[in-house]
Amino acid sequence: MICLGFESSCDETGVALYCSERGLLAHALYSQIELHAEYGGVVPELASRDHVRKLAPLTEQVFAEAGLDWGAVDGIACTSGPGLLGALLVGVAYSRSLALAWNKPFVGIHHMEGHLLAPLMEAEQPSYPFLALLVSGGHTLLVRVEAIGDYRLISESIDDAVGEAFDKTAKLLGLPYPGGPVLAALAEQGEPGRFYFKRPMTKIDHGKMPENFSFSGLKTQVLQAVKKLPEVTEQDKADIALAFEESAVDSLLIKCRHMLKREGINQLVVAGGVGANKKLRAELNRLLSEMGGQVFFPRHELCTDNGAMIAYAGCQRLLAGESDDLTITGRPRWPLTELKRPGGPESVDV
Ligand code: KG4
Ligand code: ZN
Repeated sequence: MICLGFESSCDETGVALYCSERGLLAHALYSQIELHAEYGGVVPELASRDHVRKLAPLTEQVFAEAGLDWGAVDGIACTSGPGLLGALLVGVAYSRSLALAWNKPFVGIHHMEGHLLAPLMEAEQPSYPFLALLVSGGHTLLVRVEAIGDYRLISESIDDAVGEAFDKTAKLLGLPYPGGPVLAALAEQGEPGRFYFKRPMTKIDHGKMPENFSFSGLKTQVLQAVKKLPEVTEQDKADIALAFEESAVDSLLIKCRHMLKREGINQLVVAGGVGANKKLRAELNRLLSEMGGQVFFPRHELCTDNGAMIAYAGCQRLLAGESDDLTITGRPRWPLTELKRPGGPESVDV
């Protein structure tokens, strides 16, 4: 089966063609970073307008790259939530129109399911059940995955998502947008041990650790450290960035270690934009090898938002016989745990 997938939930326009037999045939991505940079964050209305401009040319581009025309497509998938409503609606309206014009089955995909399944496009794959750590600008989730669509939430952030904490801390340090990767790059120049920030919600009491994550306190600790400095030099910024990154990564690591042991699982899938973070990747690799297990990441370019993960998830759901009718719309809020196994007894045709 060949699935044409679309992603437009935030500030990246992604289009891809995925084939269940041959893998990823082509993917095209346009990032709106420059468009939003002067505002220091994503401006929803500008994001929607830019998706309108980019969807058709990127679609032409993937067909040209794959050397196919639309007749080769067996189904169409699009991120239908969660995300910015206007941005979602652009992608949903465009892809629904293609499904109608070409008379192809259509399926709406949960953005975080796209991230979660992205590592399954690689040659080395986990076996079920595994835990998935989903770390993006909007989510920090640890999920037990029994099968595609069968997700049990173990941990989530009670306040900021970890990517959001990276972005807000970067802003606080006066770093340019997008903050996360810039802060991570600056941390490489930091001197270890000059600053230390606590790891919230990681204390074990009577053998139990709080289930959830919390990252907003970390940002406050950074603010207090900055206020104590007479002036903030470039080296101070790098040292603070390093201490921040160590605390954020360690908070994720401690929770993963505890929950993997609790669940008796030694396979971890990591996905979402923060999954591109080098320190996080190295620490989790070390943890899982100590546990005699393995950690699975998507290739670097598929960590952040992209159309390939949506084409892949769409392919799996369409192959299982699932499809949505063309009244489907965007869903800005959509808990991942509401999803069902495709084709399973509880799956409902809408
Ligand atoms: O998954 P994603 O592209 O979009 C959302 O669905 O949110 O994730 C974007 C997030 C941003 O918060 C960005 O700062 C963060 O991922 N990010 C990073 C790195 N690369 C992207 N955070 C830390 N280190 C990185 N190398
Ligand atoms: Zn994302």
